[in-house]
Amino acid sequence: MKINWKPGTMIYPLPAVMISCGSDPSEYNIITASWVGTLCTNPPMCYISIRPERHSYPILKANKEFVINLTTEKLAYATDWCGVKSGKDHNKFEEMNLTPGKSAVIKAPTIEESPLSIECKVKEIIPLGSHDMFIADVVNVQADSAYLNEETGAFDMQNAGLLAYSHGKYYGLGEFIGKFGWSVKKDK
Ligand SMILES: Cc1cc2nc3c(=O)[nH]c(=O)nc-3n(C[C@H](O)[C@H](O)[C@H](O)COP(=O)(O)O)c2cc1C
Repeated sequence: MKINWKPGTMIYPLPAVMISCGSDPSEYNIITASWVGTLCTNPPMCYISIRPERHSYPILKANKEFVINLTTEKLAYATDWCGVKSGKDHNKFEEMNLTPGKSAVIKAPTIEESPLSIECKVKEIIPLGSHDMFIADVVNVQADSAYLNEETGAFDMQNAGLLAYSHGKYYGLGEFIGKFGWSVKKDK
């Protein structure tokens, strides 16, 4: 039996990413976000939804750029901390010992400790209610070569220890179950 709940956002698990923003070190900031996702493969596009009251909001709006940094179990503490503390009162890079790295295409910094950093340019901002949606083009992706499989050239995401977020709690990814299309393959 299923019980009816009032409407709410219950799509889980989600990533908890660290968004880095700002065009020079004096305004660099990090905001943790889970309202984030893929919009289109080609052209590559994604979104983040941010509440206007966040310290990061005017920085994102003015620069129209940000970096989505994937997070790992190792980065879980910093991910949570950057999601409960404000750049209004803290230098999150310094206090979490995170290193701003150079983006290839935009001014916003990457987070060097992240295994994968996605450079984004904002195309449109859509006010939705509690959150504004920043729709963005992906203009470059930086991947940590430690996770590059030398034989295949593929990025071995599973070795990065990626972090998942589900209904207020953080988790590792758990056991490998199957790869894309395995349900219809003979040699499972
Ligand atoms: C796991 C997690 C996910 C979050 N997702 C979002 C989000 O998608 N959008 C948002 O506006 N705030 C989100 N937050 C809250 C902000 O990260 C938090 O308010 C932060 O302190 C804002 O930082 P700032 O004031 O430096 O911008 C999330 C926090 C956590 C811990």
